[in-house]
Amino acid sequence: MNTPKMQTPPLPKGTRDFYPESMRIQNFIFDIWRKAALRFGYEEYEGPMFEHLELYTGKSGEEIVSQLYDFKDKGDRHIALRPEMTPTLARLVIQKGNSLKKPFKWFSIPRLFRYERAQKGRLREFFQLNLDIIGTESIYAEADLLSAIAYMLMDFGLKTEDFSIGVSSRKLLNAYLAEIGVSEVSKVYPVLDRRLKIEKEDFYSELAATGLSLEQTKKLDQFMDSKSIEEVEAKISSDESKAALDEIKQLFKTLQASGAGKSITLDLSIVRGLAYYTGIVFEVFDKGKSMRAIAGGGRYDSLCEKLGGDKVPGVGFGMGDVVLANLLEERGLLPSSKQSLDFFVASFTNDMDKIFEVAGKFRKLGYSVNHPLSPTKLGKQMEQANAQGAKVVVYVDGEKAPAGGFEYKVLSTGTLGAGTLEEIAQLKV
Ligand code: HAM
Repeated sequence: MNTPKMQTPPLPKGTRDFYPESMRIQNFIFDIWRKAALRFGYEEYEGPMFEHLELYTGKSGEEIVSQLYDFKDKGDRHIALRPEMTPTLARLVIQKGNSLKKPFKWFSIPRLFRYERAQKGRLREFFQLNLDIIGTESIYAEADLLSAIAYMLMDFGLKTEDFSIGVSSRKLLNAYLAEIGVSEVSKVYPVLDRRLKIEKEDFYSELAATGLSLEQTKKLDQFMDSKSIEEVEAKISSDESKAALDEIKQLFKTLQASGAGKSITLDLSIVRGLAYYTGIVFEVFDKGKSMRAIAGGGRYDSLCEKLGGDKVPGVGFGMGDVVLANLLEERGLLPSSKQSLDFFVASFTNDMDKIFEVAGKFRKLGYSVNHPLSPTKLGKQMEQANAQGAKVVVYVDGEKAPAGGFEYKVLSTGTLGAGTLEEIAQLKV
């Protein structure tokens, strides 16, 4: 009896296959990310894709913990696939202690996992560029990170008017909460974070449930609507609030000087879902806010301490690949996903050994080269060359070739010619 043919399992929900054409786009994004990070003096690091569960529980924030992919391994350890990079970075910092010379600037492009409701801009497996500065409380660290965001988005071809970087401060919000008599803030923050996603009534009733009076909620609501530094200035009175606002003022001033000022706006409605932020927080959106956040981050001066290490200040951000790619596609800024090759090596006589010999010579010079993998009619070889995006076809056995040289055809113009290897190498434009 025949066993029934197996049904191929489908692609898991919220994940992607990267066929070569998608991989080319992905690499385009990674290349620009990596070049921008290096240009700003960040060094690359990596960590494992899974960690002990307790690295996340209690420190990262309710939402992200509820989305963990976790399991017991064969040694009965409770493991979680990493949903973000920051706790891993904190672990790396704690492990090396004082042997790491601070401050330092590091970047990474981790593959992350979150059990999200998969939707546009949100997947269960995605990549995220992380830039972080460890070991300084200086506001110029924030300035460096925000400049890097603005510059790298421009590297992708976006204009300053295509995106906006909203800046807020947990320090300022904390100080203002204290001013209006709210001292127990841990339950308040998750509600503030949802403020623009829920109905006004629910915002009011959820805050009432955390113990806030109607008066306090109204003040908070108006405070979070503030659109300018002057407006905030008029609403605050304590020294702590003023000091936190001064920090924002300095940041905006430096960002003007760095050339990134045009994209930066004050947005006190930004709270951020993650629990560990202590100071400046920020989110990057497309200008019309028609998509989810492109990036988000902030200062986390107590995370290392909470994870069992010394107190080491940190600040950084994560920029996901999914929303960014959607935005670039919408603006027509993604490159062609077609293959491209410098040379295709062909033969009139199917001399395969000669093909391998000549291909090797061009590859030694650093060019990308392909050729047929079995004896094939010339017409088919030309079809392959075109399909693979070759710029020039080199014939290994053309009769008009000079001694030691080759006949060739430039595919974009149809120009035929003959020359030495070096002369042909120059054609690759
Ligand atoms: P986050 O706001 O959770 O922050 O994520 C940052 C960015 O990652 C988001 O703005 C979004 O572009 C992308 N992202 C998040 N979740 C998904 C998803 N399910 N699918 C696709 N893209 C997603 C953090 O992760 C912080 N650890 C960032 C950070 C670094 N803070 C300090 N240093």
